[in-house]
Amino acid sequence: MSSQAFIASARARATRLSSVAAIVAAAEKLRAQGVNVIDLGAGEPDFPTPENIKDAAKRALDENFTRYTAASGIIALKEAICARAATDFGAEFSPSQCSVTVGGKHAIFNAVVSLIDPGDEVLVERPCWVSFPEIINFAEGRMVPLDTEGTDFHLTADQVRDAITPRTKLLIVNSPSNPTGRVIAAPEFRKIIEVAAEHGLWVISDECYVQFVYPPGKPNSAATLPPELRERVLIAGSLSKTYAMTGWRIGFVLGPEAWVTEVTKINSQSTSNVNSITQRAAVAALTESQESVAKMLAEYTRRRDWLVPALNAIPGVSCGAPEGAFYGFPNVRGLMQECGFETSKQLADTLLYDYGVVLTGGSAFGIDGYLRLSYANSLEAIQEAVSRIGRMRQERS
Ligand SMILES: Cc1ncc(COP(=O)(O)O)c(C=O)c1O
Repeated sequence: MSSQAFIASARARATRLSSVAAIVAAAEKLRAQGVNVIDLGAGEPDFPTPENIKDAAKRALDENFTRYTAASGIIALKEAICARAATDFGAEFSPSQCSVTVGGKHAIFNAVVSLIDPGDEVLVERPCWVSFPEIINFAEGRMVPLDTEGTDFHLTADQVRDAITPRTKLLIVNSPSNPTGRVIAAPEFRKIIEVAAEHGLWVISDECYVQFVYPPGKPNSAATLPPELRERVLIAGSLSKTYAMTGWRIGFVLGPEAWVTEVTKINSQSTSNVNSITQRAAVAALTESQESVAKMLAEYTRRRDWLVPALNAIPGVSCGAPEGAFYGFPNVRGLMQECGFETSKQLADTLLYDYGVVLTGGSAFGIDGYLRLSYANSLEAIQEAVSRIGRMRQERS
């Protein structure tokens, strides 16, 4: 019997394990060793899934709603997704413009893979969510980063226009953004899509944090665009953050029917469908009271309002106020210099291994000199983490 080493495909070899997943694993290991670890690394709500959603899942089980469903999802859920877009954004979509996916990540994966051919250029703001470059790479597209540090992490229509070439096929926008928490103001958002449409680009609007915009800001979706612009945009939605349902794995695409059909085709040959129980729970999430969402937003606001001034009070740290999502993204170049760190990853590693604080270095998102702190953790935990960062500065500078 010959024993040959397993050699993964070129495509698999070119795919990296999520750097956030690697941090989560490192923190888990420390915790198992008894270290008091504070986790500001996780990009997921610390709240439990609301009771009414869990009740709907229990009912689905009791009713034996446990079989395959249509690859694009059950009709009641697609109708609920369309109804939410109508209620929240005054937009009319039909269920045929909707396909249910295994989370927002799967929505974006299938949307990219169903559009991009090798060598096609994809415009993405940088810093950006860790999975955009990997998904584009998987599809053999070429990511063209649009650096937003100079505009306080707000993507502009001019930047998009300047980056377009004959090979550009797709623009990905993500507002509110992970990791920066910035929101593209509605007028600029519209201009960006106008530029994309003028040049025949397609757009994915990742709206996974759309419901978490801090007052006086308001949620803004591509759904509000006029029909001639909207026909270029596929919305990638997710229930993960909005309803504290990260483990349930449920998201969707909403937009041009021809694109949605391709997404469904890929669903049908990979995941078949999102699990039937989750789909029933998602109907309850979207159609019943939205009070839990408002409560979570109020709590994130309270934490943000404590965190941002506290970070700015540390010498060498400067943090703009997140306008949405639940991430602080401070510039820590001064702190790095003072404490002798060359990269924000070194700083993040020291905070993890010597101070038990989990957070993510900016380089994971394509920019060094920053840290991402998720404030989806209790205010007490956030306060303790900031105090440990301050202690590290005192001990290392
Ligand atoms: C910007 C962004 N898009 C999409 C997702 C995907 O979320 P999920 O697959 O859990 O719906 C995430 C999760 O962290 C995210 O931060």
